Amino acid sequence: MSEWVRVAAKSDVAEGACLGVRAGGKEVAIYHLPGGEFCATDNVCSHEYALLSDGWLENGCIECPLHAAQFDIRTGKAMSAPADEDIAVYPIKAEGDDLLVQIPG
Ligand code: FES
Repeated sequence: MSEWVRVAAKSDVAEGACLGVRAGGKEVAIYHLPGGEFCATDNVCSHEYALLSDGWLENGCIECPLHAAQFDIRTGKAMSAPADEDIAVYPIKAEGDDLLVQIPG
């Protein structure tokens, strides 16, 4: 059974921005969508090595900073070349001002 891990304060992730954290031995990207929704995915691009938290968040997709592949941050689906492999998504919830993610053990 996976545990919920505190990864950040809500106020650490500005609306429309993303933040890279380490949780459960993984690189995880936390996103704060306009309107207040939070999402969490693997932070490492499935194409080569780049941190998605250094990319651009737009219309519910994160664009990789290296070769501009896009991923849907709610599903992890690879939306454009050169990535053809999806990334993992993680459950995320807010408790007070804390953000917690559930990383498979
Ligand atoms: S490393 Fe992300 S698209 Fe190439």
